[in-house]
Formats: sequence, C-alpha cells, structure tokens
Amino acid sequence: MSAIRPAAVVVLAAGEGTRMKSATPKVLHEICGRSLVGHVLAAAGELEPENLVVVVGHAREQVTAHLAEAAPGVRTAVQAEQNGTGHAVRMALEELGGVVEGTVVVVCGDTPLLTGETLARLAAAHGGDGNAVTVLTAEVPDATGYGRIVRDDATGAVTGIVEHKDATDAQRAIREINSGVFAFDGRLLADALGKVRTDNSQGEEYLTDVLGILREAGHRVGACVAADHREIAGINNRVQLAEARRILNDRLLTAAMLAGVTVVDPATTFVDVTVSFEQDAVVHPGTQLLGDTHLAEGAEVGPNSRLKDTRVGAGARVDNTVADGADIGPRASVGPYAYLRPGARLGVKSKVGTFVEIKNTSVGEGTKVPHLSYVGDATIGEYTNIGAASVFVNYDGEHKHHTTVGSHCKTGADNMFVAPVTVGDGAYTAAGSVITRDVPSGSLAVARGQQRNIEGWVARKRPGSAAAKAAEAASRESDGEG
Ligand code: UD1
Ligand code: CA
Repeated sequence: MSAIRPAAVVVLAAGEGTRMKSATPKVLHEICGRSLVGHVLAAAGELEPENLVVVVGHAREQVTAHLAEAAPGVRTAVQAEQNGTGHAVRMALEELGGVVEGTVVVVCGDTPLLTGETLARLAAAHGGDGNAVTVLTAEVPDATGYGRIVRDDATGAVTGIVEHKDATDAQRAIREINSGVFAFDGRLLADALGKVRTDNSQGEEYLTDVLGILREAGHRVGACVAADHREIAGINNRVQLAEARRILNDRLLTAAMLAGVTVVDPATTFVDVTVSFEQDAVVHPGTQLLGDTHLAEGAEVGPNSRLKDTRVGAGARVDNTVADGADIGPRASVGPYAYLRPGARLGVKSKVGTFVEIKNTSVGEGTKVPHLSYVGDATIGEYTNIGAASVFVNYDGEHKHHTTVGSHCKTGADNMFVAPVTVGDGAYTAAGSVITRDVPSGSLAVARGQQRNIEGWVARKRPGSAAAKAAEAASRESDGEG
C-alpha cells in the first residue's frame, strides 16, 4: 500500500480500561467479529512493518493468548506497571533491542476504526517532510479528555501536546487533538524517551512529551490531520463500543452496496469484517452475517437470519434461518425457520424447509426435507424426498451413528431412521415406520403395528357420550343411504 515501510509498529495495549467495567480486557472486546486490538493490528499490518509489537500489561496472559491465536507473528513487550504511554513505548523498544533504525509508528490498541490508509498517509507525510515525529491529529466536536495540539501562533507549526489534565483554559479551547498515533524517527525517539520526566498531574511518562523535547532540540515536528475524526476515536466504555460497531458496520455495508449487493435495511443488518459477497446478493432486514460467511451471486438471505461461517451458493434462498458452518448449494431453498448446524452440506436445488434441523449431513442435488424433521449424521442421495416429521436417530446414548438414504427415494411421513441404517436407491418407506434394518433398493419398507378396528367399542364402553351419539347418527345415515 505504501512505499514507506516502517521498521516497527508499536501497539499500546497495556492499560486496564476500567470504564468498560468488564472481566474481559478492553482490547479483547469485539466489534464486527474481531477484537479491538485485532482491528488495529489489521490496519497496522497493511503497512507491512518489519516488526509488529504489542505492549501488554494489564491481564497480559489473556491478551497474549489472544494474540498468539489471532495474530501469530506479532511480538509482545511486557509493561508490568502502567507508568504511562512513554514508558510503554520504551518497553517496546527494549523488546526490539533498544534502538530501532528507521520509522517507528505508535498506535493505541483501542482505536478499531483507524484504517491502514490513514496510517499510510501518516507514514508518507512523515517521510516526505523529513520529520523527527509526525502526529496524527483530528478536529473533534468535543475535545474533553484528549491531549491538545499546541501550535505556534505565527507559523502554525506544532510546538507540543498538552494533556487535558495539565492544560490551561486557553489550551482546553483547542479543538485539534492528539489521536495517540505517531510516526517517529526510531533513533531520535529512543533518545527523547530517555529525557521524558514524570512531573505531571498523573505522575506518568507521557509519550506526548517527546514532541516538545524533539522540537526544543531543533528537530522537525509535524502533524497530519485525519480526514474523518471518527476514525481515531478510542473506545473507553460500552456506549463507544456500540457506536464504533455501528460505524464499522456501515463502512462494510457501504462497500458491499457499492460493489453491487442489495442491503434492504443497513440499520438492521450486521456483518463481520470477514464476510464476503458477490454481485446481486440480497440481504433482507434483521440479518446477521458472521465469520467466514460468503454470499454468492444472486444469493438471497433473510429476513431475520443469522449465518456464521456459512457459504450460500448462487441464487440460493435462505429465509428466517440460523446456520453455523453450513454449505448451501446453488439455488437451494432453506427455511423459513430452518436450523443448519456444522457440516450441513446442501446440494444444488435442494430444499430444507420449515422447522427442520440438519447436522453433519450431505443432502444431494434436488433432494427435499420439507417439514419438521431432524437429520443428523447422514448422507442423502439425489432427488429423494424425506417425509414430514422424520427423525434420523443418530445417538444411542454413547455414540453417534450414520444413516445413508439413496437417490430417488420417497420416505414416508413420521419415520424414524435408527442408525446405523441404509435405505437403497429408489426405495420407499411407509408412513409411521421405524426403520431399524437396511432397506434394499426399490423395495417398500413397512415397519409399524398393524391397524385393528374394534367395531361398536364406543357404544359399548362410552354409552350416551357425544361420541356414541355421533357414531349412531352416522350409522343411521349410512343405513338410509343403503
Ligand atoms: C492518550 C494521550 C492523549 C491522546 C489520547 C488519545 C498520552 C500521555 N496521552 O491519553 O494525548 O489525546 O491518548 O486517545 O499519551 N497505555 C499503555 N501503558 C500505559 C498507559 C497507557 O500501554 O502505561 C496504553 C493504553 O492501553 C491505551 C493507550 O496507551 O491503549 C492510551 O492510554 P490512555 O490511558 O487511554 O491515554 P489517554 O489518557 O486517553
Ligand atoms: Ca491515561
């Protein structure tokens, strides 16, 4: 993306995030299917830095474990006590051997909306202007709590950053704030960090003091103003977390719509960053598309569906459905009210209808499971029809067993297939059957009690009842007819 490849990107993630009021460390909270720090790492990764270091401190076991899984290859530096952002960067540089030659970019772990594009602009501005440090700034409507960018009245050059708590009233009126994102010359950064003091209201080593130190030493200090101030917003509480999710979700859906996807109601459509679409896919209201879900060309999903790690084939229709780890073939029809569980593989033009649950099962091309059934651990061939209210009895209390139903079969309503069992190609089964033995190809299996009618039972056992009177009237009528 950028010609300026930083020597290192340092992500600050050692703080506690007390305002989240959570047992989960702040940077591990998720929006759109990725942790806050995961979003920052994805943006940082676009710069292709030689080193990517995350500074961990509070709840570092949890954060480190998450990074090992979500971002292998990322290094961690431990900041045992949170003595400030300057101290945190010092810990990162120690991890990298003390001094880093080249550009060092510093970002916070709690700014999930920051894009790789903005980071590349910052790195480019930094390199282009030959700065010792370049800070990413933004004009915000409410600057409360942020560090303010102090500029020279005459020249407009950045002279330093003053923290809100340490600012004068005049400085607090400044709307341009420090985003907490910087590009530094690595060698000058290491030098300046050694000179940072702790005589401020929080008794911390402020990274922001490096700007003033470098400027006083005669180096160039620059600023790069972010195009959209919302991009640099740090998450401090769950209200901001929800707001950031909405903004990111809008961003993802806008990109999808511009690429030819119909999103009927973006306000009620939730997507993860990992979801992908082809042209002319349609998403109806109240739908969540999560994880590695993919909608192929013309696939239509919703309303009111939740799909996770699910592939929807071209022209397939999925209505009011919950699916997890399913593979839905082209032009298949699913729902309304279906539940597809991991390993559900639906063939071309197959149908899984109302109140049907499918797990670890392959449903062949053109095969239908239209109503009220559970199908688990099975292979069903092509153009077979499974009768309503069937259960694939896969569990004997200890083990799961497999059922195979061939192609062009017609199984009756209310069947139990007690696995392991096989129904051959072209076979039929009678309604109400409990199939415990294999059914040979082309045969009809009948596995149910014979019907017995005991004539006159109601008149004898329930004399004078409404049923008895109805029966008597019916028999008079049929006598009259005869
Ligand atoms: C910081 C900046 C402020 C800026 C704001 C932007 C400083 C002194 N202030 O303030 O100018 O406007 O960010 O959001 O830098 N962290 C550590 N170790 C520490 C302290 C913090 O790793 O010892 C991490 C936190 O986890 C967080 C980031 O650094 O990711 C920023 O820390 P935070 O305490 O939120 O800084 P602010 O007070 O918001
Ligand atoms: Ca702070």
